[in-house]
Amino acid sequence: MKISIIGGGGLVGSSAAFALQLGKVVREIALVDVNQELAEGQALDLLHGAPSTADQIISSGSYEHIPESDVICITAGSRRKPDESRLDLIQRNTDLFVSILDEISHAGPKDTALVLVVSNPVDILTYVAADRLKLPRQQVIGLGTQLDTIRFRSLIARELQIPPTQVAALILGEHGDSMVPIWSSATAAGLPLEKFPSWNAQSATQIFARTKGSGAEVIGKKGGAGFAVGVAIRDVVHSVALDQRRILPVSTVQEGCYGIRDVAFSVPTVVGRSGVVDRLEVELWPKELHGLRQSATLLRKTLTTVLDRISAVVA
Ligand code: 2OP
Repeated sequence: MKISIIGGGGLVGSSAAFALQLGKVVREIALVDVNQELAEGQALDLLHGAPSTADQIISSGSYEHIPESDVICITAGSRRKPDESRLDLIQRNTDLFVSILDEISHAGPKDTALVLVVSNPVDILTYVAADRLKLPRQQVIGLGTQLDTIRFRSLIARELQIPPTQVAALILGEHGDSMVPIWSSATAAGLPLEKFPSWNAQSATQIFARTKGSGAEVIGKKGGAGFAVGVAIRDVVHSVALDQRRILPVSTVQEGCYGIRDVAFSVPTVVGRSGVVDRLEVELWPKELHGLRQSATLLRKTLTTVLDRISAVVA
């Protein structure tokens, strides 16, 4: 399977490429970037490690890679400043994002190609991509709260001092300030969190607050996320490449799950080779359901403004 990473020269795109190289599943990784020299440098650096990782084709270039791509991952866009919300990026990123979508359409993607949106604000841009590309909606997926979910799990694991792979917990809704922690189904080593002596309500509050602020925290310390967002992207790409049908909190245009429609954000989604295979409306606590609905309302408001702006610019 071939993946093209648009913005592959940048921190997020090159980290995703490295995670996919170490993952050894995809056959070809193409780094596409407006800064071709940077993309070439990232591809060369990855290539040098190939003899000790996997037999893959690693290349760089431009939209000539699109027609053969099975997955097109869009990571390009400005990063926010620590005090900015992801929604604040809308002005800067929407025009660039629309031009990337039009380049993809022009380059002629496969009918079966899957587009994975990572650029922020990811939920807004996922909707814009689904709306503008001529691909079936189930083939347009945003990274959504998959990154928030693994951050959430990592912080719970550290609090309980247990292996992070043994923590199951979810963040749903917006990849942003209105994200919702799903405590109702959170477990560690198959046990309810509250069974752990060191667990208490204060830890829960602090852990969610830190999860929500993790993007800004990492930006403040190192300029932006790379490693964790790279493995979050790999999680989604491998579920597609291997048709794993993993249930992942990724962003897609909703069609009634939890009574929510016509906005893109994250609910438990079965992800396979064809993209969205199903969505699971698992029972939530009333306050969690309320949080999801609030998140959808907020995103819908922003979306209306963005869509009006795009149609004005395009007209
Ligand atoms: C983050 O939360 C890049 O939005 C991403 O770090």
